[in-house]
Amino acid sequence: MTPDLVTKPTLEGALVVLRPFREGDAETMAEILSDPEVRALTGSVETTAEARQRQELDDRLRDWYATRNDQVDRLDLAVQERATGRLVGEVVLNEVDPDALTANMRVLVGPEGRGKGLGTEAVGLVTAYGLERLGLRRITLEVFDHNPRARRVYERVGYAATGQRADALVFDGLSIGATDMAVDAATWRGWPPRDT
Ligand SMILES: CC(C)(COP(=O)(O)OP(=O)(O)OC[C@H]1O[C@@H](n2cnc3c(N)ncnc32)[C@H](O)[C@@H]1OP(=O)(O)O)[C@@H](O)C(=O)NCCC(=O)NCCS
Repeated sequence: MTPDLVTKPTLEGALVVLRPFREGDAETMAEILSDPEVRALTGSVETTAEARQRQELDDRLRDWYATRNDQVDRLDLAVQERATGRLVGEVVLNEVDPDALTANMRVLVGPEGRGKGLGTEAVGLVTAYGLERLGLRRITLEVFDHNPRARRVYERVGYAATGQRADALVFDGLSIGATDMAVDAATWRGWPPRDT
């Protein structure tokens, strides 16, 4: 089965709704992408000074979010907090290999949404969608070693370490490693995880 990435689903959880991007989201995403923690932990910048700079709401960013639903080889979904209806982040399946049935997953949640279980549920929902509905065999990701919170989230959803890379990023002149993680359809426990 070829993964259907043309369909952009809305995925409902207890705490978040994952939904396609829509008009007006670029403004909020510019705020979220201006957060220094998001900038530093996603590897977008290499110094604290750069992390403190704002993400400009320019034509490139507007165009990026205006065209997410037209992409046929990846899935980009907005993470909306159910309680407030606020857009708090995004979750993405990209680098999809339709033959090997693999994809990469990435997530970011801005300061307004963090530490409330929203990131964990967003990762759980998109992983379930990828493995159960798109028919992917394996989803992989990379997490920097200075991001134990993200690693904890991935482990709770069912991802396990598969490898380690030294010098994945230089931040403020310090070398930071990264861990490769993966979850497989064959051993997937579902979301929320079924007891084994
Ligand atoms: C990583 C991210 C998506 C997690 O989303 P979140 O909504 O903040 O996370 P949750 O509230 O669902 O869960 C956080 C978990 O990490 C734990 N945690 C928090 N700080 C931690 C730390 N320093 N070390 C280890 N675990 C930590 C929490 O206790 C919680 O686990 P629990 O539910 O078992 O108690 C979000 O924080 C984020 O986007 N951060 C900035 C960008 C980023 O790091 N993106 C990922 C790049 S790989």
